[in-house]
Amino acid sequence: MELIRTRHELQRFRQSRQRGKLVLVPTMGALHAGHLSLVELAHRYGQVVVSIFVNPTQFLQGEDYDSYPQDLAEDLQALTPLDIAAVFAPHLEEMYPRESGILIQPGPRALSLCGAQRPGHFAGVLTVVAKLFNLVQPDLAIFGRKDAQQCLVIDEMVRDLAFSVRLLDGPTVRESDGLAMSSRNNYLSSEERKRATCLWQGLQRGRQLLGEGERDAAAIIEAVTAILQDADQVEYVEIRSVPDLTPVQRVCDHILLAVAASVGPARLIDNLVLAVQEDSVASAALLGGEASE
Ligand code: PAJ
Repeated sequence: MELIRTRHELQRFRQSRQRGKLVLVPTMGALHAGHLSLVELAHRYGQVVVSIFVNPTQFLQGEDYDSYPQDLAEDLQALTPLDIAAVFAPHLEEMYPRESGILIQPGPRALSLCGAQRPGHFAGVLTVVAKLFNLVQPDLAIFGRKDAQQCLVIDEMVRDLAFSVRLLDGPTVRESDGLAMSSRNNYLSSEERKRATCLWQGLQRGRQLLGEGERDAAAIIEAVTAILQDADQVEYVEIRSVPDLTPVQRVCDHILLAVAASVGPARLIDNLVLAVQEDSVASAALLGGEASE
């Protein structure tokens, strides 16, 4: 596993590597089993490069950029058994060499959900992901369904700006009580950690209602919101169409049931991606990844 810190080293890596597909798994480090599952998935498609970079432009003022966990040695240790070709862990100046201020303006999929709550966040995500695509030049890039809107906003950029990378989404990896794994779970006290499971319980309730035949989005949202009352603040509970994230009144076809809430100091998000027919409800993928949930 090669550790690459500069654009120049990355170029040398690309020139010297064997033929075959290159698969990129972008991360901000603090790796957990969710990230590692994407690396395992990536393995099936070719040589894997994992990028580790805490991207300042996607954090809003007052968010946790300065305290975001960073431990490269620990991340490298977690990746060592996974037989990956390279880790690209650039310094800040490599990714943002000048104060050029160029940011990629996201499309309409970024207007709702987290995009509405965190204005500017997805411009930062798209800017860094576009830079990573240009620098690494992967054939395929893998993202987690946990950040469903992120997947769809990146997909919109790739189509609109004609990037020649294929995208896949990997399923959300959860703790045994259902809480979606996240680097931010470490911010929770043990009491908050228990209450944080309400996000998953709310989603499960939504799925149960759909399974019982409920198709009225407002009724499902109300029931999920009631369960989320264990959180300190519910930011949103929404049902949106996939892939365009337009509001849905009657649930059918491909939908995203998405929740965001704060518990103690942590802002947590979670979702279910579902294919809903008149008499059936099944887990689904966003971009063509595996549906298992
Ligand atoms: P980060 O939060 O480090 O997540 C890296 C990737 O891991 C993302 O695609 C995310 O959706 C996925 N992921 C996180 N938790 C997961 C879980 N429990 N199960 C499966 N996958 C999970 O997302 C980012 O970084 C950044 O925005 C990035 C895309 C790297 C751009 O800076």
